[in-house]
Amino acid sequence: MAEAPPGPPSSQGSHREAIAATELRWLIAMVGLLALMLAVVVTTSLAHALHPPSNVEVIDPVTLHLSGEFVENNLGTAAEPDGSVTVRVLAQQFGFAPNCLEVPAGTAVKFRLTSPDVIHGFLLIDTNVNTMVVPGFVAEVRTRFEKPGEYAMPCHEFCGPGHHGMWARVLVVPKDQFPALTAIERVRCAGG
Ligand code: CUA
Repeated sequence: MAEAPPGPPSSQGSHREAIAATELRWLIAMVGLLALMLAVVVTTSLAHALHPPSNVEVIDPVTLHLSGEFVENNLGTAAEPDGSVTVRVLAQQFGFAPNCLEVPAGTAVKFRLTSPDVIHGFLLIDTNVNTMVVPGFVAEVRTRFEKPGEYAMPCHEFCGPGHHGMWARVLVVPKDQFPALTAIERVRCAGG
């Protein structure tokens, strides 16, 4: 506290009461603001699925081409026994492999990405799909596309001189068309 204000003891006492009342008002306002901000975070996370992806899964960026999930012939869209699909993608200077990802509409889609070199970005414009792809980790994003359509997929983390040209796309096809596509057709986005 600063030195006591001038005046008789009774006025000092009422001064302190005024300060205490002001501090209490600020305290209530701050607690209210914190509660409001927490409510916004929880609501957007639960109702709109807006939250940072937090899939802490490690992978060796040096050997991922040679064996395991991200070998070349395992990239692209794979159907799962439960009816969902998994899309595996490599993000590397300066492109995505595969360059087009074909997925069925009205289906649970799980994207799994990793990088053998530097940090890249995975973003689907007009959706809430947005994450960093960090070497040494597998980024995983789950989503669902209700209607057929096409989404641009730019790398949105500066990753070197070719960053501006690092693009791919996602092609959403009708659910009944998807099973007839071969793995090669899927990565070439046949029908798109
Ligand atoms: Cu990859 Cu920017």
